[in-house]
Parts: sequence; structure tokens; C-alpha cells
Amino acid sequence: MYRQDEPSTFAAGRRVFSMVPAFTLLFTLLFALPLPANEAGDGPPEWAVPRAGSPPPHPTDPAKTFTVPGSDLALTQEQIDNPFNAPDWFPDEHAPMPDIVKHGREPGVFACAMCHLASGAGHPQSARLAGQSADYLMRQLQAFGNGDRNSYLGDFIDNLHTLESDQDAREAAQWFAALTPQRHQQVIETDTVPMTTFYGNTFMRVVDEEAAGSEPLDGRIIEVPEDYRAVENRSPRGHFLTYVPPGSLERGRQIAEGGSGLAPCASCHGADLRGTALGPSLAGSFPTYLIRQLYDFRSGKRRGIADQTGYMGTSSKMLSEQDIVDVAAYLGSLEP
Ligand code: HEC
Ligand code: HEC
Repeated sequence: MYRQDEPSTFAAGRRVFSMVPAFTLLFTLLFALPLPANEAGDGPPEWAVPRAGSPPPHPTDPAKTFTVPGSDLALTQEQIDNPFNAPDWFPDEHAPMPDIVKHGREPGVFACAMCHLASGAGHPQSARLAGQSADYLMRQLQAFGNGDRNSYLGDFIDNLHTLESDQDAREAAQWFAALTPQRHQQVIETDTVPMTTFYGNTFMRVVDEEAAGSEPLDGRIIEVPEDYRAVENRSPRGHFLTYVPPGSLERGRQIAEGGSGLAPCASCHGADLRGTALGPSLAGSFPTYLIRQLYDFRSGKRRGIADQTGYMGTSSKMLSEQDIVDVAAYLGSLEP
């Protein structure tokens, strides 16, 4: 695997550029810009924000096909990465996809399933949608559109979520809401983690096979795919290993139950934290995603309905950096 500090990545980048589809290029260009959240100093810790790494060594033969474990399909890299025809490795496992989910709307709106997957599982760098209510999902699309919610990836992602057609928004929200959420990560308390790096323009943190070795976790949360190739191929059954600090699960449980003086999260997010009409499901979401959201509420990058109650904005300011890590670790460990 290429590492960011390797001079050879430039050559590899040129070789790869002719083959990667436009959207990955967009991602790369976007990330040449500084991240507004980090600039402001009140954004999430740097380790919780995915970024582009070195271009991965994609195969040079465009006719070569790939599959993911359990699927009978074989697709080329170009088909897998087509932003207007998301791969559907297990078409029997869900209701037919609405056109917006499968194909998006050219030229600016990519297929939702390309990033959020045909299972609604998403990735640590995006968001899990399965298990959320259609109302909540609709509200978020509106919030991206009217500026109440600003993604860590900036306008590129906010615009992708700004749908011109209400019918598209409703169909996508209803389709994702109907999916049964699955467990996609194993949360592990540990002192040390494998060395990791960001993999090409996938924005995915992966084990750095070249650096082979480990380092102290040092209060962070590190999420890596178990089989990065399956995840890169947009397998909807991807599985992640989420490394969290020792003791964080118990400390996080206490915070969630109101031990730190805040209202119990369950009072708005539901008894099992799987969501209510007001608060979204938090159980089993990717912890680094949850961390970014808590910082976004804190900095005002994310407002919306939470601002009407004022609650997530104020309460997120009362949590320390460690509290946020602990509660996110705990929430990620729950059955979705
Ligand atoms: C290029 C990748 C990409 C595509 C395509 C994409 N999304 Fe997203 N989506 C993201 C990312 C990244 C986030 C997290 C944004 C943030 O940090 O706030 C997100 C967040 C969301 C959220 C908020 C989830 C939550 O729990 O609050 C919703 C809803 C959503 N997307 C729906 C959609 C729909 C519907 C489509 C298709 C029209 C779509 N997305 C297409 C990357 C994508
Ligand atoms: C008074 C009600 C209330 C309480 C109590 C509450 N929340 Fe929330 N929370 C909300 C609402 C409402 C939203 C959705 C805001 C929106 O629509 O943008 C939300 C959203 C969130 C999100 C974003 C989820 C996503 O998928 O993007 C996180 C993370 C979160 N809350 C964490 C917590 C934690 C942790 C606690 C307990 C320490 C907590 N909340 C307690 C009302 C509450």
C-alpha cells in the first residue's frame, strides 16, 4: 500500500489519474483545501476527520473484474466506482432502489447508494442511514440544502444532498428508513493500535501494511475495515474494527445515562438509543461519525431541529473531549 510520505506516490498518482472516475478526483481536489473546522480551532480532533491519502495502486487492466464475499456478481473498477450507477452486489436483500438512490441525478447528485451503500450501512467517513426514520432523514437533507448543516467535506457534500425534487428526497428517505440496520463494527478497548494511514481518495483509514507495527491509541478512536478491498468495492456487508480507549465503554454508558449531569440521551433518542420521532438512532453508528457530529453541534456547523430545543448545541459544549470519545465509543458498541 502506498504511504503519503513516499515520493513514488506522485508517479503512482499520475498513472492512476487517467482511470479514476471524476468523483474521486473531485474528492482529491477538495482535500487540497484546508479544513474549515480545524482552522477555526473548535472542530473535531484531527484524527476523527477523514482525509485523502495517496492514490491506491489500482489495477492497470480496465477489463479486470472484482467481486465481494458472498456475491455472484463481477464488476470492473469503473463499474464499481460509477457515480451514476451504484453497484448492487446483493439485489435480493432489499426492495428495488428508487432511481435517485441507484442513479442519482446527473451531473451534480451522485447515487446515494454509492456512498451510503445498498444496505444503508455507510462508512465511518459518511453516515449510517439504515435504522433512521424517514422524517429525520428528510430533515437532514433539508438542513444540508438550507445551510443548517455543513459537512466536514464542505460544499461538495452539502450540494450533493441538496435535492431539487421533493419526491426524490422522500423516496430516498423512505427507502433507507425501511432497511434493517445491521452491526457493521466490533468495538474493542485497547491501549495500542496497528499503524494506520488514509487509503487513496476513498477517505478511509486503513491498516498501514508497509509501516507494519503498532502505536499507542492515546485517547483516540481508530476505525479500520477488516477487509479493505471488500469495503473499497462498496460491499454493503463491510465490517470494521473500532479501537477505543480502555474504560471508555463504561464511562460512556454513565454519561449516556445522565451521570455527568446532562439529561439521559435516552430521553430524546429512545430507551435503547435506537431513535424516536425527535432524536435519531445513535446505537451502532460509527463512533468517529458521532464525534464529528457532536463537534459540529458545538461549533454551530450543525443546527436544524436541535437548535429549536437548543439542546444538542448546549449539551455538546458541556462534554469534554474525553467525554465525547467515551460516549461515542459506548454508542457505537450498542446493537443498532
Ligand atoms: C460522495 C458520497 C455521498 C453521496 C453520493 C451521498 N452522501 Fe449522504 N452523506 C455523505 C457524508 C460524507 C455524510 C456526512 C456529512 C457530515 O459529516 O455531516 C452524509 C450524510 C448524510 C445524511 C445525514 C445522516 C445522519 O445520520 O444525520 C443523510 C440523510 C444522507 N447523507 C442522505 C443521502 C442521500 C439521500 C443521498 C443521495 C441523494 C446521499 N446521501 C448521497 C456522503 C454521501
Ligand atoms: C432534549 C432532547 C435530546 C437529548 C436529551 C439528547 N439529544 Fe442528541 N439529538 C437531539 C435531536 C433533536 C437531534 C437531531 C437534530 C437534527 O435534526 O439535526 C439529536 C442528534 C444527535 C446526534 C447526531 C446523530 C446523527 O446521526 O447525526 C448525536 C451524535 C447526538 N444527538 C448525541 C446525543 C448524546 C450523546 C446525548 C446524551 C448525552 C444526547 N444526544 C441527548 C435531541 C437530544
